[in-house]
Amino acid sequence: MILSVACYDCHSNNTRYPWYANIQPGSWWMASHIKEGKNGLNFDEFASYSNRRQQSKLKSIVNSINNGTMPLSSYTLIHKEAILSKEDKMSIKNWANTIKDSLELRN
Ligand code: HEC
Repeated sequence: MILSVACYDCHSNNTRYPWYANIQPGSWWMASHIKEGKNGLNFDEFASYSNRRQQSKLKSIVNSINNGTMPLSSYTLIHKEAILSKEDKMSIKNWANTIKDSLELRN
């Protein structure tokens, strides 16, 4: 799934620390982004969010894809594999919207 390639480094507990994480300012950059990114959205903790919080996070995922704010451009500069194609964007949005719809039904 494209999410694990493009988003998990900053939004899950499974960060694949890249080579530059060991050198300054790479390590500082990576640490601050992971901390901030995980605070806002952590896919490993997603299941424990309330129904309402899950829905709002899914909505902001769709927005971040539509606005092109995620993944951060400073990240895709180095991680070319995280650049989203049109199809990737569609599949992330479809995925988020499908789950959001099913959560709404459970409200
Ligand atoms: C290099 C690290 C990095 C990557 C990769 C990344 N993000 Fe983020 N993300 C952040 C940071 C830092 C924030 C919080 C600050 C901000 O909003 O700019 C954030 C915030 C967010 C938010 C807002 C969360 C909230 O507070 O409600 C969403 C949604 C999001 N990211 C989705 C994604 C998605 C989807 C991907 C993959 C397509 C992705 N991000 C990839 C670092 C990252």
